[in-house]
Amino acid sequence: MSDIKKIKDEFISKIKGNLNLDQVNKIKTDLFGKNGLISSQFKRLGSIESSERKKFASDLNFVKDELQDLINKKIQEIETKKINKKLENEKVDITLPERPFVCGKIHPVSQVIDEISSIFSEIGFSVEEGPDIENEYNNFTALNTPDNHPARDMHDTFYLDQKKELLLRTHTSPVQIRTMINGKPPFKIIAPGRTYRSDSDQTHAPMFHQVEGLHIDQNINMSHLKGCLNHFIKEFFEVDKIKMRFRPSHFPFTEPSAEVDIGYQIQNGKIKIGEGNKWLEILGCGMVHPNVLKNVKVDTKKFQGYAFGIGIDRLAMLKYGINDLRAFFECDYRWLNNFGFDPLDVPTNYRGRSR
Ligand code: PHE
Repeated sequence: MSDIKKIKDEFISKIKGNLNLDQVNKIKTDLFGKNGLISSQFKRLGSIESSERKKFASDLNFVKDELQDLINKKIQEIETKKINKKLENEKVDITLPERPFVCGKIHPVSQVIDEISSIFSEIGFSVEEGPDIENEYNNFTALNTPDNHPARDMHDTFYLDQKKELLLRTHTSPVQIRTMINGKPPFKIIAPGRTYRSDSDQTHAPMFHQVEGLHIDQNINMSHLKGCLNHFIKEFFEVDKIKMRFRPSHFPFTEPSAEVDIGYQIQNGKIKIGEGNKWLEILGCGMVHPNVLKNVKVDTKKFQGYAFGIGIDRLAMLKYGINDLRAFFECDYRWLNNFGFDPLDVPTNYRGRSR
């Protein structure tokens, strides 16, 4: 038997064995490496008698191709096996029970801000925003608050620097200033957001929420203010009639100023808004003081209007029966699961409601 045939037979049976990739590669080197068996046969060509050389070369090439082909197929076979095994292991087990679907809740304050924004935007108010960190000018001076006003006292205001130039806004009223400085009248905006005062008990938190309202135009008077607030409160509490009273009050930035109370009663341990002979204060308001308009360069001979500031947290507590304000800010999941709203709950109370 010729050498070539011997090599061929030996290696064909070797390749057919159960091999891994390393073993196949070793065979490849044994045959085709620099000193491999096939390579050495090629080196012999020159020493072979010329009459036999042609046949020898042809046989050798044939065997070389055949073995190379077998090795390539073997490598492919091993790789396919490897991939199949991997796929087998990664198979999804559809018999596993599904994981529970956890859905977050909308915080009652966020829900109430959405409700308030919708009610006011339906009557032509746009929504503005301002920063929580304000300067002293926007929060006090521009709002006609004199230097000696008690609201500036350290006990009420969180100042952020020694010079008392930066502070955490104590109300949303500075958004009035920002809006009017940056625009031209008429103005008809609301501005919901966070506000801060140094205060903490069952009905006061150091951070709370307000919504500011501002309507400035050529003929706006106090009856517009009353009509607007009356409409808002009825829509918000989903009642057809509301008992509401304006109590004279004082704010440096409005004249005249008023606080608004709404009538309520307790029925079977539950609060009922709009009836009864108890009163609850929910907001401050008034006609914007001419000094404020002058500070923001609005022509007081042509324009006037009203502003109001409503405590959002208190409205949320009243509407959804929450009795401790501090729970709003404790982030207790059990509380949020109970009082929170599903994300897809559209506030429908003021849309398509029959009267
Ligand atoms: N800024 C006032 C407060 O925080 C409320 C208010 C706003 C009063 C606008 C009048 C006009 O108490």
